[in-house]
Amino acid sequence: MSPRRLLAAFWLCGCSADPAPGDSGPAAGGDGLEGSDGGDGTDGDDPPALQQPILQQPVEAEDLDPAEGVVQVSLVAAPATHRLTDWRTGETIEIAGYAYNGSLPGPTLRARLGDRLVVDFENQLDDATTLHWHGLDVPNAMDGSPMTQAPVGPGERFRYEFTLEQAGTFWYHPHIDTEHQVDLGLYGAIVVEDPADPAVDADLLLVFDDWREVAETDAEPSAVHGAHGEVGLWAVNGQVLPRLVVGGGLRYRLRLLDVSNHGYLNLSLPGARVIGHDQGLDAAPAPADAVVLGPGDRAELELLPAEGLLALMDSPYSLNGGAAQGEAEARLDIEVDVAAPAAAPPAWAFSGASPAPDPGRTDVLYVFQGEAHSDSWAINGEQYPDITVQSLSFNQDAVIEVRNLSATEHPFHLHGLVFELLSLNGVAPAFQERLDTLNIPIYGVARLRVVAHNPGMWMAHCHILPHADGGMMSMLQVTESTR
Ligand code: C2O
Ligand code: CU
Ligand code: CU
Repeated sequence: MSPRRLLAAFWLCGCSADPAPGDSGPAAGGDGLEGSDGGDGTDGDDPPALQQPILQQPVEAEDLDPAEGVVQVSLVAAPATHRLTDWRTGETIEIAGYAYNGSLPGPTLRARLGDRLVVDFENQLDDATTLHWHGLDVPNAMDGSPMTQAPVGPGERFRYEFTLEQAGTFWYHPHIDTEHQVDLGLYGAIVVEDPADPAVDADLLLVFDDWREVAETDAEPSAVHGAHGEVGLWAVNGQVLPRLVVGGGLRYRLRLLDVSNHGYLNLSLPGARVIGHDQGLDAAPAPADAVVLGPGDRAELELLPAEGLLALMDSPYSLNGGAAQGEAEARLDIEVDVAAPAAAPPAWAFSGASPAPDPGRTDVLYVFQGEAHSDSWAINGEQYPDITVQSLSFNQDAVIEVRNLSATEHPFHLHGLVFELLSLNGVAPAFQERLDTLNIPIYGVARLRVVAHNPGMWMAHCHILPHADGGMMSMLQVTESTR
């Protein structure tokens, strides 16, 4: 390890007392960047509101079981006060909210592909709740949706337990009174590492939430959110426009997650590459420009900094019409501490796979309709829970078509069954895309291939949470018998 590399590793570690721990190799999944307490960088005597905070990583859940192949954690949902200060203006938002284990975002659950995840959950809220594992094809009884589980009442406990069979970036959140509970702070990330992935110097999470939604939730009809001209206040891991200090010549894997109720991001990071989305690595990399993240979406970026200042920029985007006019805003400043030639890209195992051919037939059709003024949203003309359950037989290789006949975009999300994009508005993707959340543009038509490998009752819904709670949810049943 060169001295420069040591220095950068020291910064990454964020632990001011201990020297960097030898050449323990790339710290993918390590404790990287555990924030410097107040997060305000230097001596702590200055008013924090005038100093740009250093990006903190969400806390990591403590693994209570040292056994190989098992990750056992405990999560407690309880009331918590959240505070967000915009250091540029001094504006502070304070919310009497909820949190998992007292932290926001909730603790990151890190595991490896094939691990058994055991979560001992306790509800210390006054409300009933559940845990849902967004993006993971868990057994139906573990899915946390109202159709698959009795709510965990105040003071009650529930053990969630399943094997992690997908690598990538996922998240957990309640699935009862979802709009309200997620908004108040109940969310956290799950990172499932694939041991076959190449090592990086740091594997970092960026969890995006729009804090202005919270204050508005009770006051305004939900449907107007995300409209043109609305000014959001985005936080990254609970900080407004923080600064990430990186080392030139090092390799970074950035995992981005949008947990907001209805906010879209349209991100770009010059020189970086998009290497993954909802379900881990993509089939091929792409430049990191115009990375649209709707509610529930994830993207992974590879960053190989060399010198200078960078910024993760967010261009205007509206669910009422996609990319919009206006100035881009920085969401994260990135400072390269020591200039050095950029590292060579890690040897990601991009599959290069082509999309599956479209068989032409449609097995399940979802028509998304609704109207912002009445705040009334439906799928196939029906509002959850008064819906018709469509079914697939076990292991059926099926096509779902989603048509958006409304004047707003909708991120379509399916539980329990990862899908593959066959085409969007008649155009097949250049490479295979495996997803669990897909934004459907206004009047858009998406055709999705799904293999019904996971029996049970699965929710299919819009992930704009006011739309979902306003009725835009349906159910897809996978029957046990093979056809
Ligand atoms: Cu992220 Cu049905 O959920
Ligand atoms: Cu989900
Ligand atoms: Cu919607």
